Amino acid sequence: MKFQIITSLTALYLTVLTVAQFTSPQYLKSPIGGRLTTDDKWSKAYDRARSVVSQMTIPEKVNLTTGSGWEADLCVGNTGSVPRFNIPSLCMQDGPLGVRFTDFISAFPAGITAGASFNKELIAFRGKALALEHKAKGVHVVLGPAVGPLGRNALGGRTWEGFGADPYLQGVAARATTREIQKAGLVATIKHFIGNEQEHFRQVGEYYGSGPISQSLSSNIDDRTMHEIYMWPFADVVNEGVGSVMCSYNTINNTYACENSYLINKLLKEELGFQGFVMSDWWAMKTGIFSAQAGLDMAMPGDSGYFTSPDTFWGNRLTRAVLDGSLGDWRLDDMAVRILAAYYYVGLDSINTTQSGPNFSSWTKDTWGFEHPLGNVGWREVNKHVVASNNDLSKSAALQVATEGIVLLKNSGNVLPLVGGSLNPRKINIFGKAAGPDPRGANCKPDFACSDGALGQGWGSGAVDFQHFVTPFEAVNDAARKIGMTVDYDFTAFNLDGFLSKVSIADANIIFALTNAGEGFASFDSNYGDRRNASLWHNADEVILRAAEKNKNNIVVISSVGPTNLERWIDHPNIKAVLFALPGGQDAGIAVANVLFGLSNPSGKLPFTIARDDKDYIPIVTSPGNGKPQADFTEGIYVDYRLFDKNGLTPRYEFGYGLSYSSFGLSDFKIESGTAPSEQLPQPPSLKPVSALACNKPTNADAYTFPPGFAAVPRYIYPWLSNSGDVGNVKGSCINVTDAISSAPLAGGGLGGNPALFETAYTLSVTAVNNGPFPGSQAFQLYVEYPQGGKYDVPPRQLRGFEKPYLNVGQSAKLTFKVQRRDLSVWDVESQSWVVPRGKYRFLVGNSSRDLPLSAEITI
Ligand code: NOJ
Repeated sequence: MKFQIITSLTALYLTVLTVAQFTSPQYLKSPIGGRLTTDDKWSKAYDRARSVVSQMTIPEKVNLTTGSGWEADLCVGNTGSVPRFNIPSLCMQDGPLGVRFTDFISAFPAGITAGASFNKELIAFRGKALALEHKAKGVHVVLGPAVGPLGRNALGGRTWEGFGADPYLQGVAARATTREIQKAGLVATIKHFIGNEQEHFRQVGEYYGSGPISQSLSSNIDDRTMHEIYMWPFADVVNEGVGSVMCSYNTINNTYACENSYLINKLLKEELGFQGFVMSDWWAMKTGIFSAQAGLDMAMPGDSGYFTSPDTFWGNRLTRAVLDGSLGDWRLDDMAVRILAAYYYVGLDSINTTQSGPNFSSWTKDTWGFEHPLGNVGWREVNKHVVASNNDLSKSAALQVATEGIVLLKNSGNVLPLVGGSLNPRKINIFGKAAGPDPRGANCKPDFACSDGALGQGWGSGAVDFQHFVTPFEAVNDAARKIGMTVDYDFTAFNLDGFLSKVSIADANIIFALTNAGEGFASFDSNYGDRRNASLWHNADEVILRAAEKNKNNIVVISSVGPTNLERWIDHPNIKAVLFALPGGQDAGIAVANVLFGLSNPSGKLPFTIARDDKDYIPIVTSPGNGKPQADFTEGIYVDYRLFDKNGLTPRYEFGYGLSYSSFGLSDFKIESGTAPSEQLPQPPSLKPVSALACNKPTNADAYTFPPGFAAVPRYIYPWLSNSGDVGNVKGSCINVTDAISSAPLAGGGLGGNPALFETAYTLSVTAVNNGPFPGSQAFQLYVEYPQGGKYDVPPRQLRGFEKPYLNVGQSAKLTFKVQRRDLSVWDVESQSWVVPRGKYRFLVGNSSRDLPLSAEITI
């Protein structure tokens, strides 16, 4: 994003006045979809969509673009239907770890847990299971995966919904998830576009705990950072063919994301060549015509405010805007065509969608309820209680991701595993509130913002109803009983007398601790979505230290949504082992027990950096300022490990770190093949010429009022005018579409950008061996060091590949990494394109971002 920095003196003056310094340019050429020549599948989908939309009336097209209103239908978002063409109301449902607001589904481990597995096949497996459960429930558009937040703020409330604080990791994981969702015939939604890195101040009118605002937080991001960090994973999923992108709540450089024409029209649709539709986050839309011109295609949930507001920015108002010529009809056509193109692209038409719509209601758990709950209309059997989860795919995906998302941080003297390690305890204690059940049950309200027991997921729209939840206590107790191990427990957090009497009696104490976070509409213990700090909850540091005073063998298990502060006890000689478990979903406890007892060899890697000092993290903005809070991303591309590496900060545990019960070796790292890419991108393929659909100039507003005898549902959003007199002058706007015509920029021309970006430049290989003593997997990581000291300031190293073989003891495997042109590129702000800087590149391979024993070099 280009931003204009006003001359320093003026800037200083403006800063004093706390007037926004960052602005987002306007770009009102809204690219018409279907012009790419590089993708046959999209071209065919466009042909079908255009042929149907060309026969539609204005209200029919509007019906596709506008949600019926919050709680107006059964899903969290629902479009209008177009019965004449057999197009049903589309059901949009969260979310990234399961089907929200319904029963008989799986609570899969969170995105961050899948990211920590560093296992591409497993991430895809989770995506498939997730997709099939949505499909079984009649969902059409899945509101996930999430790659924004990217993880800039370690304490950000929703970083656990995405895959980790690195664009490459996010991109690979989101691409695999998107592929599986769309292979199942549903539209995936990549969210939130963009810069939604914290929860404080994400929306005006929400409860923040720190003062009122008149504009959502502005994420002020420079052009290079936008491309190399925040847009990077979006480019991956666009390249994959994602059908939908959700624009975010925040403003970017002081323009709301859903009306930010530079972001949507220029970066997403023109440069990345996005072919699907842009959907607003719920009430993230703030204007009608302006948002349409900026490239927004679908208004969700349809009403303009919270459910107290019966009005809409689109619906009948969009019909009016086209009738009176305020909005070119080509833009409405493009919205409808984009939505239908995505529908045909994934094959939604081949599920009999008219019948298979949602078989559940988001708004009641009862079997019977209203089809239109807001309007109290249509009493029927709304919850069919379809079992989506009782299958091997779901079960094994849920457990396997939870297991591979556990990171072994410390294991002095190989005390773990409990069976087969050096300790082999016969008697254990289980301590910590995070071990056992929450007294309020597994599904507390609102939306799981509670944490008085074990953690399985964060809170907010990214969470689902647990159908079962196995706590670590339950699973560890069970595993111990099976082998005749003695177990006692104490979950008290503050009155430690009872606990203290037990501490020294056992061979080992296993102490559980947690932190939690979630979406900004709910809070827990003054954590307003974002965490207040990185400390463990429920007095856990104290519990750990007291145990360590009296017993030599203590094992700490942390369950957390993000990095936590370990400093008070991590070096204590009596803290022998530490496991860091990312939110493990319904079977979180089983996964932990399997790793503790050695049924699974830990193989997770940290998808973020754990600092020694909380001050090393980029802070959350908690001050409303003058009511327009500003988050200046002054660190630029230096997010997470890039920042620590650049500034010479020593983390406690670096990005990519994670031990195993085995030791692995690497050898024979080499560049197998490849040719040096040119410095500049080759010219992109040209785009197809634009041809607008035939424009039928409207003449009479009467044709756009409610059909005679139509029984309207109260407060439901319709495309028809209540009164033809609402439209002053019916003239339409059959202008030609030159407003939208542009040729592809050098960086564009294909899905996700210039196709050359995704070409393999080099193929590298390395041999990995498991030296024992246990079978298991290890995620080997490839980092690239760009030429140093040249024109571009570059991070010391950046993740550009990972491979995770499963190896028996003594077994070896050859691993291959394919490095694409874009993995070697920087975004050049002047030429507005990707450039491969000339100079020496170093490829480094190893076990974490700081443990990279082998390297290979090439000069380009
Ligand atoms: C708001 C959240 O930000 C978004 O992620 C979610 O999909 C919608 N609400 C719908 O629940």
